[in-house]
Amino acid sequence: MSPRPKPAARPAAPPASPLDCLDAVYVAEARPGQELPTPGDPEVAFAGRSNVGKSTLLNRLCQRRSLARTSRTPGCTRGVVLFRCALRDATRFVIADLPGYGFAERSKAERTGWGGLIESYLQRRASLAGVVVLVDGRRGVQPEEAQLAEYLRHIHRPFFAVATKVDKLSRAERGKVTAAIHRTLGVPVVGASGETGEGREEVLRRIRTLVRFEAEPPQSGTPSEPVANDPADGAEV
Ligand code: GTP
Ligand code: MG
Repeated sequence: MSPRPKPAARPAAPPASPLDCLDAVYVAEARPGQELPTPGDPEVAFAGRSNVGKSTLLNRLCQRRSLARTSRTPGCTRGVVLFRCALRDATRFVIADLPGYGFAERSKAERTGWGGLIESYLQRRASLAGVVVLVDGRRGVQPEEAQLAEYLRHIHRPFFAVATKVDKLSRAERGKVTAAIHRTLGVPVVGASGETGEGREEVLRRIRTLVRFEAEPPQSGTPSEPVANDPADGAEV
């Protein structure tokens, strides 16, 4: 009698990572003229032009396929949309998915309304720990992104940049693009792809640095950390 064939080995599950997202839920959305809920966990806002890949990257970071709505058509996200996330390492934070700016097809009134919404959110939200500025890796920094960076410095919001859609670039191009964005904006830049997951952990480490600093501000009387637009440089993340 011939021996029974061994059952095929199951593919090994990837090892648990402290950056696994254990919980991710929609919290609320505010459109122009509407209020957001009272601040809770520290927030990180995703800002960038329409179609740059904000909502897709958010889904990838949270390891959820369709938590935030995404679309090939620019103008998909139409308000400030909040999602609460918890990582395996117990880091808890809220991601604010912002509507894209620079979407010319919107009516002037709509653009003014959304511009006001984004600006007042960035300026006034008490729980906002920092901002992720997304730049399309194929286009590099455009005047809008440079203006956004200047505005964030002006209002003293810490931020770092993500070059998106790097799956569309060769290895050599990725290095050049991230270096050029870093030179122009003067902050750390992570190359990432919401499509393949490249850069996911590095983006999360930098978010974790931002939100931990917000959750545990320096004691009064101790010198403050030099986080202002370069939160993760030199920090252990
Ligand atoms: P708005 O909500 O309009 O501001 O856009 P958004 O910045 O949220 O962009 P969204 O995530 O909806 O993605 C826009 C389009 O780009 C979709 O067709 C996505 O599939 C595509 N996309 C997003 N991220 C990536 C990426 O990393 N690589 C590739 N190849 N395509 C991507
Ligand atoms: Mg979106």
